[in-house]
Amino acid sequence: MATLKINGETKDFDAPDDMPLLWVLRDVLGMTGTKYGCGIAQCGACTVHLDGQPVRSCLLPVGEVRDRAITTIEGVGATAAGAKVQKAWLDLEVIQCGYCQSGQIMSAAALLAATPNPDDADIDAAMAGNICRCGTYVRIRAAIKRAASEA
Ligand code: FES
Ligand code: FES
Repeated sequence: MATLKINGETKDFDAPDDMPLLWVLRDVLGMTGTKYGCGIAQCGACTVHLDGQPVRSCLLPVGEVRDRAITTIEGVGATAAGAKVQKAWLDLEVIQCGYCQSGQIMSAAALLAATPNPDDADIDAAMAGNICRCGTYVRIRAAIKRAASEA
């Protein structure tokens, strides 16, 4: 039996150390908000936070993340930056099909937590690894700026 700290809660599970964190989240723990896109760290759909930093969970062996604080889309709304991002996403109706959006929100929340007033270059750098097949990039940028403007 292994243990992870996810969204402030302790979760016990059975899985081999080399299983990617994404599989543990979705298939073992039933936390399906984090999405599988490419499986090769190229699309950003599987983004979660590890000690506040955005990481791709599809290539991250679960054995390497014990004793780290993991935040997923199910819990990011409890953080100050995550709450602002989610509100801005709703206000500006960012989402189209939705598949990429968990990862987009996780990357945007990590950006705002580290850089409360990002400029376009900051946004480009933080969001470059999150692909949206529906092309919602203009609304994503606007929502990040809206979230940053919230007191
Ligand atoms: S599923 Fe992890 S980056 Fe695409
Ligand atoms: S909203 Fe459809 S892939 Fe991004």
